[in-house]
Amino acid sequence: MPRFLLGPRSQFSGRGPWRVRRAGRPFEIRRFGEESFVAIELACRHQNTDLSGCPERDGLLVCPRHGWRYRAETGECLDDPGLPLRVFAVIGEGERLWIQGQEIT
Ligand code: FES
Repeated sequence: MPRFLLGPRSQFSGRGPWRVRRAGRPFEIRRFGEESFVAIELACRHQNTDLSGCPERDGLLVCPRHGWRYRAETGECLDDPGLPLRVFAVIGEGERLWIQGQEIT
């Protein structure tokens, strides 16, 4: 996946998380500290169901199709630890933030 523009840094100045769609794909942007962000792709690893409409409950996202559970903060899958949500680095260049194309996990 090529990198693509997330948006201006000012759009992500609070605590988050923020749900966005970029390049047709759903992401949750999470902030760690002042300047560190990650982009978690909200696509179930079982059959690629869009999780962007799923509320976070007790720190978990639950897929509406077959119930796989993911830790919202990390993307860890509780039902198949080998298939976490895809997590991408977010980097800043000047006032812009970019989602990097290479998965962290
Ligand atoms: S598609 Fe998400 S659990 Fe099956």
